Amino acid sequence: MVGLHSVVRWLVLLAAVGGLIGYARALGSSGFDAVAERLGSIYAAAIGIELLIGIVVWLIQGRWDGDDVFRSFIHPVMMIAATGVASVAVARARRTRNAIVGLIGVAASLVLVILAIPSGTWPL
Ligand code: HEM
Repeated sequence: MVGLHSVVRWLVLLAAVGGLIGYARALGSSGFDAVAERLGSIYAAAIGIELLIGIVVWLIQGRWDGDDVFRSFIHPVMMIAATGVASVAVARARRTRNAIVGLIGVAASLVLVILAIPSGTWPL
């Protein structure tokens, strides 16, 4: 499950970049089209799935013991916030057909994700 969690993070990062490109493109002549809508939804779905996998990892590993405060509490709380920001922004962008809302929301969510990834686990 940890393996899955650590692989899906790449999909989340990739989907975030896709979402940013989709909304940025929608600011141009194409306007807020189905591509922007789809790419935003893919990011919201990817981070939502990763959140669920993370909760399972947290439960399996009994992380409530707080042994490693970052992995036990800071990482989960920040990732829940990142998922909330992404879901609200993507839904609002879709409803209002406003690419700026999506772009700012996905960017803010991505910053939270990057800050919350445990240091030392970045192969970059
Ligand atoms: C939603 C976006 C999330 C992303 C992108 C993400 C990403 C990551 C990454 C990159 C790692 C390091 C993996 C490694 O050691 O190889 C990690 C570890 C971990 N994550 Fe997440 N995570 C997310 C959400 C969550 C949530 C919501 C929880 C708990 C409720 C959680 C619990 C954990 C735990 C316990 C570890 C440590 C696993 C270990 O070291 O064995 N994650 N996560």
